[in-house]
Amino acid sequence: MKEPDFIGIIGGTGRMGQWFKSFFESKGYRVLISGRKTKLTNQELARRCDVVIVSVPINVTVKIIEEIGPYVRGNCLLMDFTSLKTEPVRAMLRATNDKVEVIGAHPLFGPGICGLKEQTIVLCPARGKTWLDWLKRVFKEARLELTTPEEHDQIMAVIQALTHFLFIAFGTTVANLSFCSETLQRYSTPNFRVLWERIIGLTSQNPEIYGAIQFDNPFYKERVLPLFWKHLEKLKDIVSNQNQKAFTEMFKKIENYISSKYSSK
Ligand SMILES: NC(=O)c1ccc[n+]([C@@H]2O[C@H](COP(=O)([O-])OP(=O)(O)OC[C@H]3O[C@@H](n4cnc5c(N)ncnc54)[C@H](OP(=O)(O)O)[C@@H]3O)[C@@H](O)[C@H]2O)c1
Repeated sequence: MKEPDFIGIIGGTGRMGQWFKSFFESKGYRVLISGRKTKLTNQELARRCDVVIVSVPINVTVKIIEEIGPYVRGNCLLMDFTSLKTEPVRAMLRATNDKVEVIGAHPLFGPGICGLKEQTIVLCPARGKTWLDWLKRVFKEARLELTTPEEHDQIMAVIQALTHFLFIAFGTTVANLSFCSETLQRYSTPNFRVLWERIIGLTSQNPEIYGAIQFDNPFYKERVLPLFWKHLEKLKDIVSNQNQKAFTEMFKKIENYISSKYSSK
């Protein structure tokens, strides 16, 4: 079974990079990190490590992969943690020689978690199989979902992009009304409280990461968002026209979708 001498994290000074550095070190691995201000350069790290992980903001991921890809040695593993998978995985395949193994990864959690138990990591194996067994072993406490980069991005168009869009639109609407937030808390229902807590959590984070999730997913922009818009308009018309029949139909369609999905498993 393959074992790395060194794991390298480019962007290892950042939040996810730091979390995974501690994680790998807790498993007994030696970890090297690089960022824009570290003495160790990204290229030197790529040259020295058996497992090279790119964990930088989405908008510089492809550029960094192109810079370091040629330095990753044959039989080593190149992977990334970016929230979108199609472009980074294509770039990793393009930038490396055929002997370098490539796996796209997306941890479906932020750096605030205590451990991998009950967390999900999506893996998109793109070239080679030997390091996948090692990853399955080190990430054994997590739930692993194996898929293609394209399917990952289509699913994330709903799970992340559409959900965040809804939160931002809801938060902006409330912020533009004249109620003070403290009043809304006093009158809040369980539904409102859950949603509002999520909106508070989202808007306390770095808007650039969330911007990239909105801007850089073609399936989201071309299919999901226009469809959402169409149904928003439809719902608005139903409400304006006080059309109870159409409103009930909308409810029932969602209920049928959910029950058919559950019964098919
Ligand atoms: N945060 C999350 O909840 C989360 C969850 C899943 C996946 N991700 C993905 O994980 C990746 C990292 O996210 P993060 O939250 O850890 O971001 P972050 O805290 O902003 O860290 C980004 C890291 O990238 C480095 N960096 C930025 N530009 C660079 C450049 N040109 N060259 C080299 N290093 C550069 C920064 O280093 P210096 O500033 O030290 O130069 C820093 O170490 C992103 O792709 C994101 O999509 C994040």
